[in-house]
This record gives sequence, structure tokens and C-alpha cells, in this order.
Amino acid sequence: MPARQQEIHLDPIAYVNGSFVPLSDAKVSILDRGFLFADGIYEVAAVLDGKLVDNASHLARLERSVGEIALKLPETVARIQEIQKELVARNKLVSGLVYLEVTRGADKARDFAFPKGDVRPTLIMFTSEKEIVDAPSARTGINVITVPDIRWARRDIKSVALLAQVLAKQAAAEAGASEAWMIEDGFVTEGGSSSAFILTQDDVIVTRQNSNAILPGCTRKAVVALAEERQLRVEERPFTVTEALAAKEAFITSASVFVQPVVAIDGNKVANGKPGPVARRLREIYVDFAKATAV
Ligand code: PDD
Repeated sequence: MPARQQEIHLDPIAYVNGSFVPLSDAKVSILDRGFLFADGIYEVAAVLDGKLVDNASHLARLERSVGEIALKLPETVARIQEIQKELVARNKLVSGLVYLEVTRGADKARDFAFPKGDVRPTLIMFTSEKEIVDAPSARTGINVITVPDIRWARRDIKSVALLAQVLAKQAAAEAGASEAWMIEDGFVTEGGSSSAFILTQDDVIVTRQNSNAILPGCTRKAVVALAEERQLRVEERPFTVTEALAAKEAFITSASVFVQPVVAIDGNKVANGKPGPVARRLREIYVDFAKATAV
């Protein structure tokens, strides 16, 4: 491989507050409020064929999330999309993810209340390569474990305060599982970084309704709409693990996995322990939608 190409691969370009810099040089202040207080919002959008998947939905959620914490974006969402695209192009990213984060910036000292002066919010982005469409786990299905949902009460905000999810997903990793379903009051809220679904014995797709208890998943929203367009029955309501284990199928959705079958929960098989046809079909439908609408 020519040295230049290797360099691109090993040290991709990141974006930090107006500049495109090698990832290894991409830095923010230790006084950044994202670092000190998790006072920030993030988004993750998929990239397929070098294009952003369902990005309008991600940017709409970004605007809502920052609005909920009174954080003003340092750029317009139109400009943010331009930066995302430029980063994808600079990194020659074909398949993967664009991560973006905006924080309330770095003040001169650590003070819990918002900065009083003119502190510019921090905006950073980076990309990562990931084969999403041909992921082996989409064929085999994944195992999930369950953990208590110990998160705060505003999970509808895509905040960078992810310690509960870090611990949940570490517990999953230690148990040889790929995701943790979080349980509150006996019901599944969602996965550590995904939305949770089941298909009941009478062929109803069930996923929890949007509220402060879960993140309004962009993939969840698209999958629900695509399923309804095809006359599949969808019910938005909470479900239990007992119901999931009695279901025909279970699956998760997110920007980073699209639709992925869940074949076991806490070591117990869902149905026959194999990916089901509805999850497979919804995955195909979502991939088609993603490719057709990517920008
Ligand atoms: N996570 N629920 C939670 C708690 C999430 O963190 C995510 C996304 C989702 C799915 O949302 P979407 O379909 O918009 O990706 C649901 C991202 C991918 C992450 O943290 O990496």
C-alpha cells in the first residue's frame, strides 16, 4: 500500500471546531463541559455507499436534544450536514458511521451553571469504518442480557452521559452477549444503544412507545413506518421479557446495526433460537430504504 494511503487509513481525519485535523491531533480542552459534566449531545449516523443514511432524522433529533438542554448549536444543521459529508469524503468512507458531538464548550473554570460569557459550544466529528449491510451478526442473530435500567429520567435526550449504558454493555460483553436490554418496572425500556422489538405469536410487531423513558430511535421510527406501509401490524407499548421469550421473534434497531435479530435473552432461546423471517424481511426493507434515501 502506498504510504499516503496507509496514512489515511491509520489516521483518519476528524473535525474539531472548524478545522479538519488528523484524528491523533484532534483535541479539546480538559475544561470542556462535555468532559467535566457530560454537558453535551451526540448523534451517530450510518454511511452506506459513501452517503449519509436517514440523516434528516438524526439532525432533527439533534436539534430537539440541544433545545431540551438550552444548548445553541455553533453551526446551522445545514452546515453540520455539509461538514459530515466533507468528513466522509476526506476519509473516503464507504460503509461506516459518522459520530458527532456538541458540548456547552470550555469555560475558564469548572462551574456547574452555564457559562456566563461568550463561550462557544464545542463541535467535533469523526468517522469509523463498519460493514453494516453484510454484518455476520445479522445472519446469526445476537444474544442479549437484561440489566436494571439505572439511567436518568430524560432518556429522550441523546446526552453523552452514557455511564449506565457503558456498564450495561460491559456486563453484556462479559456474558458473551452483544447488547443489554434495560428493564424498568418489569418492562423492557430499550437496548444500551438500540431500540427493542418483538413479534408476538399473532404477528404483531411490538416496540415501546416514545416517551421520556427511551430515546426516540431514528431507525425505530423508519422501521415502524416501513412496516405499517406494508400493512404489518405494529403496536407501540411496553413489553416484558416473559413476553419476549414467548414471542415468535425479537430484534433490535439502531443506526449502527440497522435491524438485527435477537436469538437469546439471558441465555434463553427466543422461539427456536434462530433469526426469524420478519426481522430478516424488515432488515432488507430498511437497507433498501437506507440506500434509496441516503444523501
Ligand atoms: N445509539 N436507544 C439508545 C439508548 C441508543 O443509544 C440508540 C442509538 C438507539 C437507536 O437510535 P437510532 O436508531 O437513532 O440509532 C436507541 C447509537 C447508535 C450509539 O450510541 O452508538
